Parts: sequence; C-alpha cells; structure tokens
Amino acid sequence: MPLVNIKDMLQHAYDNQYAVGAFDLINLDFLQGILQAAEEMQAPVILSLAESHFEHFDFDLLMPAVESAARRASIPVAIHFDHGHSFDSAVKAIRLGCNSIMVDASESSLNDNIEITKKIVSMSHGCGIAVEGELGYVPGVEGEDAKHHPGEICYTTVEDAKTYLENTHIDFLAVSIGTVHGRLQGKANLDFQRLKEINQELGIPLVIHGGTGLDDEQFKQLIQNGVAKINYYTALADVAAQQIKHNSSSSEKISYTDNMKGVTAAIANEVMHCIKLWGSAKKAGEVLAYCQPWKSVEHLIIYNVEGINSTSAKEMITEGYTILSSIPGVRSIFVGETIKKEAQYQYTWLVRFCHPSVIDTYREHPEHVAFADNLFRPVAGNRISIDYLELPV
Ligand code: 13P
Repeated sequence: MPLVNIKDMLQHAYDNQYAVGAFDLINLDFLQGILQAAEEMQAPVILSLAESHFEHFDFDLLMPAVESAARRASIPVAIHFDHGHSFDSAVKAIRLGCNSIMVDASESSLNDNIEITKKIVSMSHGCGIAVEGELGYVPGVEGEDAKHHPGEICYTTVEDAKTYLENTHIDFLAVSIGTVHGRLQGKANLDFQRLKEINQELGIPLVIHGGTGLDDEQFKQLIQNGVAKINYYTALADVAAQQIKHNSSSSEKISYTDNMKGVTAAIANEVMHCIKLWGSAKKAGEVLAYCQPWKSVEHLIIYNVEGINSTSAKEMITEGYTILSSIPGVRSIFVGETIKKEAQYQYTWLVRFCHPSVIDTYREHPEHVAFADNLFRPVAGNRISIDYLELPV
C-alpha cells in the first residue's frame, strides 16, 4: 500500500536536499506515464489534480483510477489537490481520495488569504491531511503561453511568509520568486536571495509552481534553498501534443489509437528527466521506510431500533446518510439491513474515514452530534460501535 503521508515524504526530501515532482495529470495517459517513470526510476512521486484543469476531466470519474494506481504502485505516492479554490472543493477532494491539499487564495490580500487558508488547514488537519498554502502570486495558466498570463508576478516577502505561517499553520509554502505557470518567454529571472531568506526564516518544505522551462542550474539552486516539491505540467502536455502531431503527420488515414501511440512513453520520458534532475531517483525505499503509510478507518455500527416502525427507521437512516456524508474526512457510507431476520443486530452503518484523525473530529462535529443526540441514539439504544484500521494485504 504505497500511498503515504505527504508530510513525511516532503520532510524527507527537505532534509536530504532533493525535490519530489508533483506532476499534474488530466487523463489516464498522464497517470500511466507519470507512474511508469517513477517506478522505472524508483522515485517517490506526487500525483497532482488541479481544480483549474476541471474543464479537461471529470474529477469524480478520474479519482478512483488515480487512487487504485497509487495503491498498486511499489513506490511511495501521494495524491495532491492542486490550486484548490474553496473550502467545499477541498472537502470534496478529500472525500474522493486526495491526501494532500493546496489552498490557493494567493490573489487575495494577506489578511483574506490567512482567513481562507486557516479554515481549510483546520479542516484538513482534522482529517490528518497536510496543507500547502501560496503567498505572493505566480501568474499564468498551466499549459498556456506566457502571453496569456493574467497579471504580474507578485513576489513573496519574508515578513508576509512568517506572518502567514504563524497564523495559518500550513505545512508547506508555495513561494513566488519569479516563476510563471505555462510556457516561458525567455529565461525566468529567479530571486534566489529571497528564497534563501524565506527558507531560513520558515524552515518548512517550500514549493515551486511553474516548473516548466527552468534550466538545470536553476533547479539545483531551488533545491539547495529549501524547495522540496516542484509542480510540473506544461512540458508534459507539450511532449504529448508533439507525439500526437508526429503520429498524425505520418499517414493520411490514421485511427485514434494510431494517433495516441507513444504518448504515455513521451510523458514518461519527460518525467524521468525531471526525476533525475531533481535528485529523487532511487529514493523510493528510503522514503517508504520513513513515511507513515496512508490508511483508512472503517467506523462500524451495528444496531437495533426501538420505539419506531421500520418506515420511520428508514427515514432516520436516509437523513443520517445525507448529513453524515458531508462531514469532512468521510469518504463513503454504507447503510444496510440484515438479510437474515434472526440476526442479533438488524441494521448497520459502515462509515469510511480517510485517516484515523477523523475518528475524533467526526465524533465532535456539530452535525454528527445533532444527528446522533436527536435522531439516532434515542431509538438505537442497543448498539455496538467499533473503529477498524485498514490492514495492508
Ligand atoms: P507548469 O505548467 O508551468 O509546469 O506549472 C505547473 C504548476 O505549477 C501546477 O501547479
């Protein structure tokens, strides 16, 4: 089960001066290419899904594939929600299986950024999930040319970074020191002195957005100054597009599958190039040994109802299902009734939590307390409740 806690993964990278690639994916070609490369290089890897890319894929549909690919990998993997723009989208990403969250309120004022980030950090930490915040503004849109970049670079200052960390308790900080998202025009002018000072002041893993187009020496200096996670997308999309263009130019009548030939391999090659450059190759074993494995919890309740008929029992169950499903950290709920009427307990709730931390936050969540006190416990006196931690099999 090589899905691991990203907090440990990035701490290892930070302490050992290398960076883990966070590769944004938009479909199965990207997912397979990224993981093939990481397996080949025996490198830890972050599978990243950006809210800004939702026009390109169905998040609900892609996430089960991402999670099962991560779980069957032999190398350590984290699943990251990139550029999350709201509390609700972060809750949904966790429900779908992301075990790392980015809040991007970097276009807001410092105070507003702090307020928005604080709320998401508190919710995510309650789910055992680390959070990346962004301060300053990295302009641009992944996958587009620099000329489309909206807005100017707004550099992260050391004082703001310190205030932001103290007030939000984020785990990682994305800094703005001269990179842009998407294709560059010319060479990026990176402010390494600023990065060095932020790193000395904060002492937490730093993140670079807009990895596409930076040169080898720039990557080296970023990593020397505290960058432990590098976000990368446009170059992967470009090699995929070049491969398709090459395929389609080779013959007049060409099928879909002929057009797509070699796309996964082209993405994998680009990812391998990054992994070599950023120093994460051959680190998989060490990182796996260092990281907490990411395990879910099954919260089981078996019970009988008394004082209400079966129609009212089913209304109570339906209402509970709706209320409890929306609590942060709840991944799914199974409600059931016994097949054999003589069974000792007639009904069950099986509530899957993303992480053991959710046991407490769920119990104390006001929506859970209200449902349990007003609707459930008064009619379900006869019950057993047990939390089971997932076993690796
Ligand atoms: P590029 O598309 O410039 O590589 O940036 C990716 C990124 O920062 C995603 O968050």
